[in-house]
Amino acid sequence: MSGLGKLVNVLKAAGEDTRLRLLALLADGDHSVKDLTEILDQSQPRVSRHLKLLADAGLVQRHAEGAWAYYRLAPEGQGADLARWLTSRVDPNDPDRRRDRARQEEARAEQQALAADYFAKVADSWDLLKTLHVPEAAVEAAVLEELGGRRVDLLIDLGTGTGRMLEVLAPAYDRGIGLDSSREMLAVARSRLAAGSIAHAQVRLGDIASLDPAIGPADVVVIHQVLHYFDDPGRMLAQARRLLKPGGEILIVDFAPHDLEFLRTEHAHRRLGLSREQMKDWAASAGLDVLSMREFPSDTKDRGLTVCLWHLGDRSRTD
Ligand SMILES: C[S@@+](CC[C@H](N)C(=O)[O-])C[C@H]1O[C@@H](n2cnc3c(N)ncnc32)[C@H](O)[C@@H]1O
Repeated sequence: MSGLGKLVNVLKAAGEDTRLRLLALLADGDHSVKDLTEILDQSQPRVSRHLKLLADAGLVQRHAEGAWAYYRLAPEGQGADLARWLTSRVDPNDPDRRRDRARQEEARAEQQALAADYFAKVADSWDLLKTLHVPEAAVEAAVLEELGGRRVDLLIDLGTGTGRMLEVLAPAYDRGIGLDSSREMLAVARSRLAAGSIAHAQVRLGDIASLDPAIGPADVVVIHQVLHYFDDPGRMLAQARRLLKPGGEILIVDFAPHDLEFLRTEHAHRRLGLSREQMKDWAASAGLDVLSMREFPSDTKDRGLTVCLWHLGDRSRTD
């Protein structure tokens, strides 16, 4: 097909009400088909058909993950340019757009409520639970190592949970702040910090999906085993970057892609691990570079998970 013919196909794919609404939703981050179906209040086969047309035209990308599929705007190419141009021109006050945005927020709030219920239940046993399938000691040592023996001014731990990262990294910062939305997890974190006499760290209740940059600027942000609770880790990364000083760094620990669907159904996970390519794209969109990535295969033979440690740097760094 000629270049002109291809472009006409892309324009045809984008030139329809529901598909334009889908593009506008995806401009705000990755979404599962399940969520898009609920937000648009249309049948799943219908939404899937629209998404397939958008994907065939190169406007969006599909990522299959276990029983779910996620969609995002295409990161590059003619379709990507057009999708970005079009979505930047959608009237934010259009009634359909306003309703879609309100439902998108509701869907996110529901997911967060599910995660909060889960963590309220497991807070007391979390430290034991998390060691089950993960090479924890090696990962913790590596996180500390990434900071290369430096002591930074401010370190912020997003989704601090029981505060373990604040404890492990205590020698590496002058001031530490841990944020979490679970009162139950924070209660455990406060006892941990008190027991370890770690007076230079404090934990606060807060939603890390809508961060107030005023709590920064931080030299280092840590996101340890948190991103897989979010449908759109890229959106979370963009938020985290807003907390950084120019040249600041983000340390992320999370699972490599896996197929353990029960982690979704029984343990509130949303994403079945994060791939190298996804992290590279999300980081680039947030204005961050991947400085290094290390993998830690499971030390148990059954149902083991590989853990990855990413070190990201703010692109405005001067070195
Ligand atoms: C798997 S735990 C990890 C805790 C800790 N970083 C660790 O590795 O031990 C995930 C944590 O993220 C927190 N979390 C999930 N969604 C959050 C949100 N929107 N805002 C703040 N914390 C959130 C949960 O409450 C939970 O404590």
